[in-house]
Parts: sequence; C-alpha cells; structure tokens
Amino acid sequence: MPISAPEPLLQVSGLAAGYGKIIVLEGVDLTIGAGEIVALLGPNGAGKTTLLKAVSGLLPRTGKVRFGGRDISTASPRETVNAGLVHVVEGHRVFTSLTVFDNLLLAGYGLDRNALAIQVDEALAFFPEIAAKRADKAGSLSGGQQQMLAVAQGLVRRPRLLMLDEPSAGLSPVLVDRVLSAAARLRDAGTAVLLVEQLIEKALALADRVYALARGSIVLEASTKEADLPARLERAYFGQDH
Ligand SMILES: Nc1ncnc2c1ncn2[C@@H]1O[C@H](COP(=O)(O)OP(=O)(O)OP(=O)(O)O)[C@@H](O)[C@H]1O
Ligand SMILES: [Mg+2]
Repeated sequence: MPISAPEPLLQVSGLAAGYGKIIVLEGVDLTIGAGEIVALLGPNGAGKTTLLKAVSGLLPRTGKVRFGGRDISTASPRETVNAGLVHVVEGHRVFTSLTVFDNLLLAGYGLDRNALAIQVDEALAFFPEIAAKRADKAGSLSGGQQQMLAVAQGLVRRPRLLMLDEPSAGLSPVLVDRVLSAAARLRDAGTAVLLVEQLIEKALALADRVYALARGSIVLEASTKEADLPARLERAYFGQDH
C-alpha cells in the first residue's frame, strides 16, 4: 500500500459560520502542520475572530474540522480544549484582583492537581518576567505583562495548537516583540500557533505560512519565504487576488 503524507494537525474544510442569520464565513479551507506558525491576516471585519471562534467551537459552524486525526466538527469548546486546541480570545482579560498564580490555576480548571502544578510552572517558565511576580495581583502587572499572562493561561493546558487573536493589541513595539517571541519559542517546543495579527511585517517575520482573509473568504495562502508576498498581500486586501 502506498504511504500517504501525514495528515496536518488542523484541517478545516468548507467552514461556514456567522451570527444568527448573518453569514460571515463561507467555504473556508485552512491547514496547520504540527509545530508550524501560521499567520492569519486580513482587514478589520474580514472575519478573523469569527474564524477562530468557529474553529474552537465558540460559534455554531458548518463544514469539517479535523484536529490531531480526529473529527471535531461538532465538538464543544470544552472537548476542543481537551483535544489540545486552545484559543486565547481577542481582548482576553486576566482577573486583576487575583494573583498571577491563581489566574494560571483557574486556566487549568479541571486538570489533575499534580499535573496542574507542573503545567503552571511550565507556562510560567515561558515568561520569566511574570514568573518573578507569581504572587502579585495581576492588576499590578503592566499591559504587556498581562498579555503574557493571557498567553500563559493558554499554555497551562499544554496545547498542540495555540490560537492567539491579536495578542499584541495595544502594546508598545518592544512589548509586542516580547509577546510574539513566545510564539517562536513555542514552535521550538513543538507547539503549533495560529496567530491573528494586525502588524503584518512582524507576523510575516515570525510565521512559516500565511493566510489572508477578506470578506469572509481565504483570498491568499503562501509561504512567508515568497519574495513578492507583500505585493500579493496588498492585492489580496484590496480584492484583486485569488
Ligand atoms: N456578535 C456579532 N454579531 C453580529 N455580527 C458580528 C458579531 N461579531 C462580529 N460580527 C461581524 O462579523 C464580521 C467579521 O467580524 P470579525 O470580528 O470576525 O472580524 P475581524 O477580522 O476579527 O476584525 P478585527 O480585525 O477588527 O478584529 C464583521 O462584519 C462584524 O461586524
Ligand atoms: Mg478580530
């Protein structure tokens, strides 16, 4: 029997989703390989957040979603998380009156106690800056440190794929780099990342592949090594590419 290519970690096909009668996404196909960083770009209102919510089961959807060789098309958000697909939602806020440590414990709700202690330490190891403040109230952290905590909360469950929806929103360039550098370290550790980002150059510098979404459809898929990518992306944003 011929040996077929391994299945990608995430395989989305013919995905459609929206809000009530409003259809936002139609016919979306997307794949992510194990340990790959994929950027999802597109203008405001293109449907990037809607796509992440549909994949993680936070929104009703039709179409097919396979993850880790399993069909999760009808899985609940909880089942999706348990399968190893974790979504840090857009504008995620930490609990400012709780300590850094307690925010992480909360993110691991339901995990076995011993596993939880180990996995909280692992998540903190990604961000020495907030590890040093584990006993401090999250409200005393800077904006960038709170974003790091939000990403760390996603890591507590040891995801195989972490979906980050604009983790750098509202941060200064230096802090953006610090938050985004976590994605590169995650890839080194074998975790795949789907990154929604408004800062196109930074996203392209980090990612292995890119998708552009416009008006609810994927209008471009490319390796970030392609030389004419900025021009192609510009055409995709303005509706002249296929
Ligand atoms: N709760 C909602 N109810 C109705 N329509 C919504 C809702 N949330 C988003 N939409 C609409 O769905 C479309 C896609 O929105 P979405 O938030 O997915 O875009 P986005 O690409 O994430 O934009 P941004 O870059 O601004 O975050 C937009 O037209 C938006 O107005
Ligand atoms: Mg969004």
